[in-house]
Amino acid sequence: MVGRRSTGDVATAPSAVPRDEFSGSYESECRPAGPYGALKPVPAGPYGALKPDTLAVVLDALDKLEMTGLDELAAVGDADTLERWRVRYIGTKGALKAVLPRMKDVAPSDKPAVGKRLNEVKQALERSFKEKKSALAGRTTTPSVDVTEPGIPMGLGRRHVLSRTIDEVTETFARMGFSVAHGPEVEDEWHNFDALNIPRDHPARDPRENFFLAGGLMLRSQTSTIQIRTMARTKPPLKVVAVGRVYRPDTHDATHYSMFHQVEGLYVDRDVSMVDLKTTLFQFAKTYFGPEAEVRMRPSFFPFTEPSAEVDMKMKVKGRWQWVELGGCGMVDPNVFEAVGYDPDVWSGFAFGLGIDRIAMRKYGIADIRWMFENDARFLRQF
Ligand code: FA5
Repeated sequence: MVGRRSTGDVATAPSAVPRDEFSGSYESECRPAGPYGALKPVPAGPYGALKPDTLAVVLDALDKLEMTGLDELAAVGDADTLERWRVRYIGTKGALKAVLPRMKDVAPSDKPAVGKRLNEVKQALERSFKEKKSALAGRTTTPSVDVTEPGIPMGLGRRHVLSRTIDEVTETFARMGFSVAHGPEVEDEWHNFDALNIPRDHPARDPRENFFLAGGLMLRSQTSTIQIRTMARTKPPLKVVAVGRVYRPDTHDATHYSMFHQVEGLYVDRDVSMVDLKTTLFQFAKTYFGPEAEVRMRPSFFPFTEPSAEVDMKMKVKGRWQWVELGGCGMVDPNVFEAVGYDPDVWSGFAFGLGIDRIAMRKYGIADIRWMFENDARFLRQF
C-alpha cells in the first residue's frame, strides 16, 4: 500500500532512499552498516573513487580566494590596511594556508592539478601584494596630497634679455629697410680675415686673439664674415643686417666677455656716402633708445673700411655715466668689393658692427655684461 511502511519494506528501504549526488559527506557514504544494513559504496565517478565534487569544490574555493583577495587588495590605500590584508590572505594562518588541509580529500590523480592551481593563486596573491607594497611605499595612512589645497602656480618662462634685444634691434633696422642675413659661427680664415682685407701679419690674426680650430677653421671673431658671405652670393644693391655670436679670448670684466653678440649692417648701392652711414646709426640710436640718446663717432681704423669710425654711446657703468664703444663702422674698402667680385668703381657702401650685449646694457640699465651669462633667475626675471 502506498504511503504505508510495513516491516516487509525494510529490506529494500536503503536502495529506495532518493540520493542527491552532491549532498552528504564522504564519511556518511562509508559509514558502517546501520540498522538497514551495509550501504552500497558510491560507484567510481569521473574524479575517481572519492566523492566526485571534491576536486570541483577545492578548485572553486581557490578561484574565490583569488578573486576576493585581489579585489580587496585593489581597494587597499595605506600600509596598515595592506598589512591586515597580508595576514588575512597570505599569512601563516591566512586563507591560503587554510585550503591546504583540504588537499587530503582530493584523489591522488587530481592532486597535481590542484597543487598547480594552488601555486598559481599563491603567486598571484604574493606578486600583487609586492606591487601594492611598492606602490604605497612612502605613503602613510594619511594621504600626503591634500587634493582640496589650491595648486602651486607654475612659474612662467620668459625670453632672455639678449634674445629680446636681438629681436628689437633687428626689427628696428628692418623698419629702416634692412633685410636679415645669417652666417655660420664656425668659419674659415678667408671669410674671417683674408676677404676682409686683413693681412696675414695683422695682430687681429694672432692665435692669442682668436679661438682657432683644426683644419683652418675658427670660431668667428666678428660678424663681418656675413658681409662677405652675403655679397659673394648676392648681386648689388643690397641692404642687410646680421646678428650672431662671436668669440674672442678676452678677459671678462664689466663690458667684455669671451662670447658676445654683434649686429652687422651692410648697405651697398651706387653713391652711398658717409652721410648715409651717420644718418642710419643716429636714427637707429634715437629710435631704439629714445631722443635723449647720446651717440658720437670718432675716427678709427678697420682694414675692411675706409674711412673708418668708432661709434660710442653714453651709458652708466658701475654707477657712472661714461662713453662706451658700441661698435665700428666705415665705408666698405674697395679691396673687399674686389674679393667678392663687385666692381668698386660702380658700387659703394657702408658697413657697421655693433656689440648687442652693450646695446642691451644701455637699453635695460645692466651695469655688468657678466650678469647676462650667469643664468641667475633673480636677474633674468627682471626683464
Ligand atoms: C669689429 O668687430 C668690427 N667687425 C666692426 C665693424 C664692422 C667695423 C663693420 C667696420 C665695419 P670691434 O672689434 O671694435 O669691431 O668690435 C665691435 C664691437 O663689439 C665693440 O665696439 C663692442 O661693442 C663689441 N665687443 C668687442 N669685444 C667685446 C667683448 N669682449 N665683449 C663684449 N662686447 C665686445
